[in-house]
Amino acid sequence: MSLADRDRAVVWHPFTQAATADPPLAVVSAAGSWLQLADGTRVFDAISSWWTCLIGHSHPRLVAAIADQAARLDHVLFAGCTHPGAVELAEKLIERAPLGLARVFYSDDGSTAVEVALKMAVQFHAQNGQPQRTRFLALESGYHGDTFGAMSVGDPADFAGPFAPLLWPVTRVAVPTVDGDPLAADIDLAPALAALDRQLLACGEALAAVIVEPLVQGAGGMRLYPPAFLAALAARVRAHGGLVIADEVMTGFGRTGRLFACEHGDLSPDLLCLAKGLTGGTLPLAATLATEEIYTVFLGKDARSALLHGHSFTANPIACAAALASMRVADDEQLVDKARALHALYAGILPPLRALPGVQSVRWLGGIGVLELAGGGYHDAEKSRKIRDLCLRQGVLIRPLGPVIYTLPPLGSVLADVRRAWQVIADAVTATAQSGTIVAPDVENSP
Ligand SMILES: Cc1ncc(COP(=O)(O)O)c(C=O)c1O
Repeated sequence: MSLADRDRAVVWHPFTQAATADPPLAVVSAAGSWLQLADGTRVFDAISSWWTCLIGHSHPRLVAAIADQAARLDHVLFAGCTHPGAVELAEKLIERAPLGLARVFYSDDGSTAVEVALKMAVQFHAQNGQPQRTRFLALESGYHGDTFGAMSVGDPADFAGPFAPLLWPVTRVAVPTVDGDPLAADIDLAPALAALDRQLLACGEALAAVIVEPLVQGAGGMRLYPPAFLAALAARVRAHGGLVIADEVMTGFGRTGRLFACEHGDLSPDLLCLAKGLTGGTLPLAATLATEEIYTVFLGKDARSALLHGHSFTANPIACAAALASMRVADDEQLVDKARALHALYAGILPPLRALPGVQSVRWLGGIGVLELAGGGYHDAEKSRKIRDLCLRQGVLIRPLGPVIYTLPPLGSVLADVRRAWQVIADAVTATAQSGTIVAPDVENSP
């Protein structure tokens, strides 16, 4: 039996409609930006394996750090115990994170990093004399994960489905998205800010915090917005007594051409969520960073004033070792500069693609390059499924978000490989437009 057949018999895959999905790719190894399939072919991982692989797959220095740590200390509970890796990683994160963040709370993945931030915000206000502050402000088309709190603050339109009745009410604001380069965008923010002000007034004294994906709304369709909106949003929320939660699960560690996307808007958030690229994409680990002001409010004689939250694998030593190695390699290989080089590459190769048939727009930021097809919603992306299949046949793995086709490759990728990936995508877009669309509706696109 093939691996795919054995898989079909026993495995339940994430975000996949098993009734219509193609057999999964059987991946046996990976190196750099390339996946090696069981049939011997090589595929360029143009989406960094769900945006996790920061530098490149199986980087020798990360592999060595993981093996070394596993041999010394595999795991230990993190309540009442500590270990060198967790402490050093916290020190390094605080050193690099936007100013004011002073405490690191570890968890497992992006969703849990967000859950922790949401709980911290609510409990902070409750213990700071403002228990009525329980209302979250979030952006339309935002995505923050699949656990219930994260789903609540995410935009329910595409993902919440049957869970919608169980999600708590959230106040949403529209985002002034831009095409092209959001760092060069010159748009009038006044209407968006006026709408924001109305929502803030509606929240009143109930406002707990805003949660944002800074500059890039990833799963919502790689929607980009200018730094000035981020800065103005944060300032207004603070003026209304709310905290600012930056969800940099996707944008963190250089993806946007700055170490953290908040830096584009000179924003120091009160809470910062990190995951995905934290370990270079090798192991699950997340962190929620908080200011000392927030941390202090959780101190007291009563155990119940602590943050009563934790996961079995909190601060797993092997994952911490991977994260430390990833940060060292990122420094040595000047990864943020590599994201900027990708930005420059996209600025050259994407604008001409606007002329392709069926293309609505292109945009880019750091290592993220986007082409959006005209028409079609998130769950009926027949064309993009066809494009994805054509790309795969040419050795390029993409995973469109409905009509949104994008690359977000490992930052250590060879520029020529990224350039070729876009040539393959452009050819596939053209071929699909010429042949019309013929495949069944796709319901498996996902973040
Ligand atoms: C901005 C953002 N927040 C949170 C998450 C959830 O992360 P995870 O899938 O690791 O739970 C994602 C995942 O794509 C994300 O893009």
